Amino acid sequence: MARCGTVQCGFCIPGMCMTVHDLLEGNHAPTDLETRQALAGNLCRCSGYRGVLEAVKDVVAEREASAAAHASEGADDARIPHQIPHPHDGGKA
Ligand code: FES
Repeated sequence: MARCGTVQCGFCIPGMCMTVHDLLEGNHAPTDLETRQALAGNLCRCSGYRGVLEAVKDVVAEREASAAAHASEGADDARIPHQIPHPHDGGKA
């Protein structure tokens, strides 16, 4: 949120952050309307809400990029620890 210019006096920020955190835990890709509805009880007298909407979009974009990068790494990293190749097996799983 700080990166998106949301923080000015900071009075509303704790409530905004908790609201956005709760929203993003339950909804991994909220729309602007869903974000606005979640923020409805938070009042900001300084910066408005545009930065918060941008911050939520940034988190969604970062999550999508991370998921795509993880998916492109292949299934090898999906092993559970006891399936990691043992050095005495010649590296075979
Ligand atoms: S940043 Fe001042 S009330 Fe929101």
